[in-house]
Formats: sequence, C-alpha cells, structure tokens
Amino acid sequence: MFKITNMKITVVGAGNVGATCANCIAQKELANEVILVDIKEGLSEGKALDMWQTAPINYYNTHVKGVTNDYAATAGSEVVVITSGLPRKPGMSRDDLISINAGIVKSVTENVVKHSPDAIIIIVSNPLDVMTYAAFLTAKKASNKVFGMAGVLDTARYRAFLAEELNVSPKDIQALLMGGHGDTMVPLPRYTTVAGIPVTELIEADKLEAIIERTKKGGGELVNLMGTSAWYAPGAAAAQMVEAIVRDQKRIFPVCALLNGEYGMKDIYLGVPVKLGKNGIEEVIEVKLNKEEMELLEGSAAAVKSVMKVLDEMNIM
Ligand code: NAI
Ligand code: 2OP
Repeated sequence: MFKITNMKITVVGAGNVGATCANCIAQKELANEVILVDIKEGLSEGKALDMWQTAPINYYNTHVKGVTNDYAATAGSEVVVITSGLPRKPGMSRDDLISINAGIVKSVTENVVKHSPDAIIIIVSNPLDVMTYAAFLTAKKASNKVFGMAGVLDTARYRAFLAEELNVSPKDIQALLMGGHGDTMVPLPRYTTVAGIPVTELIEADKLEAIIERTKKGGGELVNLMGTSAWYAPGAAAAQMVEAIVRDQKRIFPVCALLNGEYGMKDIYLGVPVKLGKNGIEEVIEVKLNKEEMELLEGSAAAVKSVMKVLDEMNIM
C-alpha cells in the first residue's frame, strides 16, 4: 500500500484539466506533494501558488508546487497524470489533435519515465485511446501501469443526465460505458441501474435513447458552449482514478486499457471495465455482451484503429 504522507504525484499540463485535477488531488489529500508541470513559463508556478493559498481555507496539507519543464522536480512520483496537449475547438474532433498531441505525449512520457521509472501513468490528452497507446509504446512498461481516463468522465456525464431526467440523486446511478472516447462510445443500458433497479424500468425507451446520444456527444456539447473542451468533470475524473490507486480501493471503473484477447481484441487500447488499485489495473473485467452490444464495441474499436493508423503513419514512435 502507498503511504500517502510520503506520496508524490505529478500532473503534467497546468491548463484547464491539469490544474483542476491537481486541485482535486490536493483537496482529497491524496499525496504529500503534487508537482504541476507545464512548458509555459510561470503558469504552473502561479496556479500552484494560488492552489496552495486555498489550503488554509479548504483545510488540507497537500503541497502543490509548480515547475516549468523541470522533470527533476517530479523524480520519484508514484502516479503521473498527463494532460498536456491541445484541446478541441468548435468544429474539431478529438482525432484532429493527433498531429500535435502525439509529439507532446511522447516527449512528456520520456521525461516522466526517466525520472519516475516506477510511476503509474494516466493519460488524459486527446485523442485519448491513441495517446494512451502512444504513451505505452514510449514508456516501455507493463500495460497495467499505463492507461487512460475517459470512461469515468463519459459515465459521469451519462449518470448526470439520467439523474436529472429521473429527478434522483446522481449518487444512486450506477452505469457502465465501454469503447473509445469518441462519438462511437458504447453506453450500456443493460448495465445501468438506479439503486439496483434496472434503468429500463424507470425511463421510456425514447428518453433513454436521447440520453445515450447526448452522452456520446457530451464533449462536443461543452466545446460548442465554451469554445474549448471541458475541465471540471475531466479533472475530477482523473483525480478519482488517482484516489483508487493511492488508496488501493479496488474500484471498478471504465478505463482505457490495453486489451490482450479480452473481448476478442488484441493490441488496442479501448475503454473497458477494470479493477483499479495500488498496482494500477489489477484486472480487466469481461462482462457478457449481447450481439448488438458487441457490434457497437467492435465499431468503436474500428474507429480507434483508424486513428492508430494515423499515428503509425506519423512514424514518430
Ligand atoms: P489547455 O490548453 O487548457 O492545457 C493544456 C496545457 O498543456 C497548456 O497549459 C500547455 O502549455 C501544456 N503543454 C503543452 N505542451 C506541453 C509539454 N510539452 N509539456 C508540458 N505541458 C505542455 O487544455 P485542457 O483543456 O487542459 O486539455 C488538455 C488535454 O486533455 C487536451 O488534449 C484535451 O483534448 C484533453 N481532454 C481529454 C479528456 C478525456 O476525457 N480524456 C477530457 C478533457 C480534455
Ligand atoms: C471531453 O470529452 C474533449 O475529451 C474531451 O470533454
């Protein structure tokens, strides 16, 4: 088990998602020290200082320290969250970001591994599934220690929409969503309950379908409203994964994980339910999917593979 009082966690990228994630980690006191890294001079230093000044108000001890591209300061981190890279603008898909973000994720991962060879790495940068694959190829470490955040966010959106529609607490909605972090993601109504009651008993089919469609386009809805992509829920989602790891909680979350025969697929990073604990991914869980669900998952995998092909053609890995 990790000892939280000795723990160091690094968040790379002090933009919207990275700063929010660092703030959530500090407020949950998941580490003794959080190092926030960015390439923009002063940005992470300033945000970290601002966060530290909330410690006496929000009552936590975790010290957030900002550095500019100084990976020596990150040395010995137990968990590293990588959020560096361009976000989407209106009209862009997550896949449009690959040409710039692949280079960023590669160089950041190299620096992270050099200074924290044993760290568990969580990727957030988009296009998520393929950036996680790029980090795995770069890090050259076991896949239980390199994985991506998307499903926790996408499921949270699905659960929030359901809670609003049903006028119930979001705490009571349990749901599973699989596949890539894109419009082909696969929310699974058969694995969605409200305090154990199958959701299909509580909501009309057309309303559920509308919520599923809204979930699939949930990231785009926010990009259109704000001109850039979301950060509160993404930052909180990544921090929840960090918490499961450092507190060895054995939580079951949908996580972008390398498949090695599970669901009949290999050599692809895709969103599937996993058990998260101190060893990172401790188990990939294979739930039974019916023919229609399996076809949707295969369709989503095909979409991820087409972006993997773009990465291969870039010849940078
Ligand atoms: P942002 O633009 O606010 O922040 C990105 C930060 O990365 C910037 O401060 C930039 O200076 C920094 N950066 C760029 N290159 C760097 C490098 N080589 N080393 C260190 N820092 C570097 O963007 P935001 O909104 O925080 O999004 C970050 C990424 O996360 C985007 O790729 C976005 O698409 C993705 N994202 C993924 C989600 C998911 O569910 N997986 C959800 C939301 C965003
Ligand atoms: C999101 O889903 C754009 O991936 C980002 O909000």
